[in-house]
Amino acid sequence: MRHRRTLFAVALAALALIVVACAPNASQDTLKPAGPYAEIPHNLYVPVFFVATVIFVLVEGAVLLFSIRYRHRKGRDQIPPQIHGNTRLEIAWTILPAVILAGVAVPTVAGIFDLAKKPTPDVMRVNVLGHQWWWEFDYPAEKITTANDLVIPTGQPVYLSLCAVGGAYEGQPSPNSCQPGPPDGQPPASLGNSVIHSFWPPELAGTQDVVPGQTNHMYIQADHPGTYSGQCKEFCGLSHAYMRFRVVAMAPDDYATWVQEQQQPVASSAPQGAASAGLDTFRQICTACHAVNGLTDADGNEIPPSNNAPNLTHLMSRSCFAGCILEMNDENLRRWIEDPPAVKAGSWMPDYGLSEQQISDLIAYLNTLK
Ligand code: CUA
Repeated sequence: MRHRRTLFAVALAALALIVVACAPNASQDTLKPAGPYAEIPHNLYVPVFFVATVIFVLVEGAVLLFSIRYRHRKGRDQIPPQIHGNTRLEIAWTILPAVILAGVAVPTVAGIFDLAKKPTPDVMRVNVLGHQWWWEFDYPAEKITTANDLVIPTGQPVYLSLCAVGGAYEGQPSPNSCQPGPPDGQPPASLGNSVIHSFWPPELAGTQDVVPGQTNHMYIQADHPGTYSGQCKEFCGLSHAYMRFRVVAMAPDDYATWVQEQQQPVASSAPQGAASAGLDTFRQICTACHAVNGLTDADGNEIPPSNNAPNLTHLMSRSCFAGCILEMNDENLRRWIEDPPAVKAGSWMPDYGLSEQQISDLIAYLNTLK
């Protein structure tokens, strides 16, 4: 009886394992590469998988066959011929795996070199900054700062420089090559409370660790327009599981339009109605951490931008927010502003105890950030 129950449990576990592999629209599928930098590891994975499968079946098959066919039986009292120390066999089963491994090593090393190529001077660059727990994307040439959605043009390689940043810079640029250094004559900022992350857009590339005090690099490229989801792949604290992002690949023309829109500072004319009240709250509270390019205080002085939290200049152009766990809509914005740590555990954005009215006004203002 107990034997049967164990067997049933094992069968159920095996079935569950097989069934979870059947998601029809799996959005993070390394088996569906959508660009050359995902194809390089995929083209290695497929042949190695089949070679490994053949070897597995042969070896395990032989083990099973021999242990059943030549098992001890009554009346078998002779020990079969022993092959220990047989020189020919020893040489054969040393050389054969060595040849197989050498065969795997050649394309592997070639792939590593392909992925680690130095960028050409005209390659498009994006700096990827890992915060707790969201991704910032800076476009140094285009002078764009965004978050959660990484927008790229299709059909061209994008060279990413990845850095970990913390919340303790106190307005100073972080000491890594993803951001400009401190102004002349000023000491470099402390490292802040940055932690390790790992950037992983499965359909576009493999993973790359993001390490405090170090700049790592990787290429991504999307062959076709579309949205490719990704996530942080290295445990980085409470909301590691909520540190997602989307790569939004656009046709080159659409991408050029997007760049132009993103380069615009916020409209200088003051918003009206509820949005106007929302702007007041935003100036008082939100600008301590969030930047809106070109935003001025009530007297018309520019508010110094802070990079502790996502730059919200064109918030409404993004598909998601809060580490990309929430779709961009009013309902979710309300849920988030009401109590951020309740949505994303450990969120550095606290619950400010705003009234329903203040939150509604704030959402009205955020909706003007197109
Ligand atoms: Cu960032 Cu896990």
